[in-house]
Amino acid sequence: MTRTAIYPGSFDPPTRGHEDLIRRSLRLADRVIVAVAVNSAKQPLFAVEERLAMLRAAVPDEPNVSFESFDGLLAEFAVRVGATLIVRGLRAVSDFEYEFQMALMNRRLHPSLETVFLVPAVDLTYLSSSLVREVARYGGDVSGLVPASVADALTARFRP
Ligand code: PNS
Repeated sequence: MTRTAIYPGSFDPPTRGHEDLIRRSLRLADRVIVAVAVNSAKQPLFAVEERLAMLRAAVPDEPNVSFESFDGLLAEFAVRVGATLIVRGLRAVSDFEYEFQMALMNRRLHPSLETVFLVPAVDLTYLSSSLVREVARYGGDVSGLVPASVADALTARFRP
């Protein structure tokens, strides 16, 4: 039996924390679908296709990882693609309440779905897409915090 996990998020932009979680997810599942939500961020910095391209470039070496976008409910999409696990990263206590609510709601929508939380590498725990966006916007150095393709895209966006 093939176990499929889905790793959903906004990924605006992907960080090395996301990359770390994608690779860790492969320890739980045979196949991991990285799912970019189309309408979760109200005013995204990068278009969905750009985010997908950055994710593909960040993890080019894992044949069991695929990348898709989805619109609408995550639980519906997860069931449609045959996933039984939803993977989310937990960085700090502050993440917990939101993640707990989402996990219970997704289970209510589809009782067959289990959510699992993975902790990223300790040196990446303070990292978030919103912090990366802000630092990059004001000219700070984000290399090392994001995959190279993302660093390039941020430079092109803020320092064309
Ligand atoms: O990276 P994010 O922004 O924390 O990811 C949040 C995301 C995209 C996983 C969440 O907003 C989501 O699942 N959106 C799809 C719509 C949906 O299913 N909403 C109900 C969640 S219980």
